[in-house]
Amino acid sequence: MLPEPNWSLTHCRDNQYRTEFAEVVRVLNEWLAPYGGFEGKDLLDFGCGEGTAALGIALQHKPNKVVGIDPGAKVWKCLANGQAQLGLERLPENLKFFQIEPDAQLSSLGTFDIVYSWSVFEHLQQDWIVDRLKAIRGVLRPNGVMFLQTTPLYYSAWGAHFRTQLPVPWAHLSMQESLLFEELRKGCASADEANFLRTQIFETLNKATAPGLLRACEEAGFQIVRKFCTCTEESPPSELIEIFHEEILTTEQLVFLAVPS
Ligand SMILES: C[S@@+](CC[C@H](N)C(=O)[O-])C[C@H]1O[C@@H](n2cnc3c(N)ncnc32)[C@H](O)[C@@H]1O
Repeated sequence: MLPEPNWSLTHCRDNQYRTEFAEVVRVLNEWLAPYGGFEGKDLLDFGCGEGTAALGIALQHKPNKVVGIDPGAKVWKCLANGQAQLGLERLPENLKFFQIEPDAQLSSLGTFDIVYSWSVFEHLQQDWIVDRLKAIRGVLRPNGVMFLQTTPLYYSAWGAHFRTQLPVPWAHLSMQESLLFEELRKGCASADEANFLRTQIFETLNKATAPGLLRACEEAGFQIVRKFCTCTEESPPSELIEIFHEEILTTEQLVFLAVPS
């Protein structure tokens, strides 16, 4: 067995990287501590992106194994990012990545004590949500636990995922679409950026609500054992409150733990 690779967060200049490597991992660790934490466990990161949190756990918490899966090719960026941000010479042996189909069977990956997912479920195709939860349920060991965090939910102030380019809360629910995309274009550096945000991000977001996701989990064979929501600071405009439940408009983030029922 190779010795643990050297690394250090001291010279990390990328705040987003630091947040995922340290802060996201701290939150995951805090939530999962009552279930025995990460040490010696087999973990699956569902929708791992560039694998920064998976790397953070593998390097800092002595899991037996962390497997990161994602349909995007960015799963292969983990080592280059780690080299640039941490001075990491190679990935630890207990970390593996797989680029998967978005509706892939997960059974070939083995079974896991912990499956976690961070900022993924708002991006899942809506009619696959229950199916993906069932796939996760299928690879979770009987005494395993799933951690799921998702934000921003579609109906919340910044649920369109283009806050930086169009900083008007709930614009996606209150504006006529042609005007919405005109305003989005004005906030973007190029037509390509606006088109990407519209077609590759906004139009692919699902409209799941916090209660809807919790129901989907129960339908997939989970029991919710801990739940936490955060709300937007902004107050929704009265014309939206006439249409939608205020709680649905203000609930931005859903975090929960679920176990097989
Ligand atoms: C906002 S990114 C979050 C990535 C990572 N979890 C993080 O916190 O940096 C959302 C990720 O969900 C992934 N995703 C979308 N559909 C998926 C699916 N069906 N199965 C697994 N991951 C999916 C995307 O490819 C993307 O990497």
